Amino acid sequence: MFSRKSKSTVGLDIGSSSVKLIKLDHTKNGHSVSALGVRELPPEAIVADEIRDREAVIFNIQSLIDQTDPKIDEVVVSISGHGVITDRFTIGKKSGAEAEQAILFETEQRAPFDVEDVSLDYHIVKVDDEENQMDVLLVAARKEYLRTYLELVQDCGLKPIVVDDDALAVFNAYSYNYEIDPSRVTALVNIGCDVTNITYIVDGIYHSTRDVSSGTREIYTAIQREFRLNAELATKAIKGEMGDSIDQDMLKATIISSTDELVSGVELAFSYFKSQSKIENIDWIVLSGGGSLVPYLPEFLQSKLTVPLEIANPLRNIDYDPELFQYLQPEKIAPLLTVSVGLAMREAR
Ligand SMILES: Nc1ncnc2c1ncn2[C@@H]1O[C@H](COP(=O)(O)OP(=O)(O)OP(=O)(O)O)[C@@H](O)[C@H]1O
Ligand SMILES: [Mg+2]
Repeated sequence: MFSRKSKSTVGLDIGSSSVKLIKLDHTKNGHSVSALGVRELPPEAIVADEIRDREAVIFNIQSLIDQTDPKIDEVVVSISGHGVITDRFTIGKKSGAEAEQAILFETEQRAPFDVEDVSLDYHIVKVDDEENQMDVLLVAARKEYLRTYLELVQDCGLKPIVVDDDALAVFNAYSYNYEIDPSRVTALVNIGCDVTNITYIVDGIYHSTRDVSSGTREIYTAIQREFRLNAELATKAIKGEMGDSIDQDMLKATIISSTDELVSGVELAFSYFKSQSKIENIDWIVLSGGGSLVPYLPEFLQSKLTVPLEIANPLRNIDYDPELFQYLQPEKIAPLLTVSVGLAMREAR
């Protein structure tokens, strides 16, 4: 009479440096990890939003599936960067078809794109009964970009059941694992290879997101150049797997001197957010993504941005058997999994 079979969801995060996969089983006690894997991509296979070596990407995704759980077929994926635009606005409180009409109208008025060219989705973030208003979060994906992306996933033999936005996935992963302090304006900063997603939390709820077109790629390129390393060794150097053959002072200097673009991108996004939202201060930064694992980077960011910072652990409230994934050391790479965890938490209906 009662089905014991726990439902599960697979989050597949196709990033420009690696593909991350996590399968979460949803039980009445919460989520638990039943498959996990990370696979690095060749450095130029995906650059920013552009898939340059489709064959390599497909090969690596298929290999990752084979290594983790060959039975996987349905996946939740995400997009970010220039392919997707999020916006937030306030309209009068409405519901059903009336709400959709009003949202579409508002979108046409303000969108920096042709409504014909995008797929739209929206979410009502806040309803203010007193003022009879509601706040709408709009997510618009460029149709062309979405199609290319979905075709890629399908060509891997997979069925994309939900397409999410990286920044929203980061928010979902964070809110499941941490108590949100409503008195603290928080910026979730997910540093990837080519894109850094920023999600703001104000009054304890989702506020807005902004993508910065910069990440760890400059650091990686600088390490290759300064230490005369090939791609594979540069990756090892960043991961601290080169031991004493790498001079730590020189590594630190190289990392710090190659983060200008990232730092100024985040600074600019912060000041834009503060002036737009009439907020004086960002009180707290929660760092995630591979960038939060790069040695010396979190401390440097904290000192440049002068905001206290912590590194996210998206597995904090999620069960897993450490023995099962020992070779991956999930406790060490957890911040890298933030987007994939957020995707896999979606209990697809
Ligand atoms: N174990 C590790 N130790 C240190 N740094 C790491 C580690 N793993 C990844 N990184 C760094 O993180 C970067 C990748 O971060 P991430 O996986 O979040 O990016 P991505 O999702 O592939 O890219 P994007 O989101 O921009 O498309 C790598 O380029 C590397 O510099
Ligand atoms: Mg990423």
